[in-house]
Amino acid sequence: MTDSTPHHGTGPGHGTGAVVVVAAALLDGGRLLAARRSAPEELAGRWELPGGKVEPGERPEDALVRELREELGVEAEPGERIPGEWPLKPGYVLKVWTARLLSGEPRPLEDHDALRWLARHELDTVDWLDQDRPAVAEAARRLPVA
Ligand code: CDP
Repeated sequence: MTDSTPHHGTGPGHGTGAVVVVAAALLDGGRLLAARRSAPEELAGRWELPGGKVEPGERPEDALVRELREELGVEAEPGERIPGEWPLKPGYVLKVWTARLLSGEPRPLEDHDALRWLARHELDTVDWLDQDRPAVAEAARRLPVA
């Protein structure tokens, strides 16, 4: 953990090579956007923060903007990184940013079959993916209490 040599992403090994999945805590009007996955079968029906895999050479924030454009048809701006990273399947790790809408109204264009804007008191009314729950809890602290 104290290794600071600049070798990430360059060597043949997999030591630092986990695929990063970025997801957005999209905040608007005091609410958080939840998206219901339509696939794969084992995840379908569970709710997540929208996002996807960072492509080789892509900056995570750029991937976030791209994924929100592709999946929801909106333009959004990344905000702060929510501290932490959460393991997914082997070789994949989840990182989350807050984001705000610049234009468009989210629609479930890809990967999702329902969207909901949730106020803070509604956040536990959907069945979040386990790996998204810590980031959702942290995002909740950015929402108004009332
Ligand atoms: O859109 P793309 O194919 O790049 O990625 P994805 O299939 O949406 O997500 C890649 C992996 O990350 C899947 O295994 C998702 O279940 C997982 N994921 C997650 O656990 N939590 C999220 N908020 C978003 C994706």
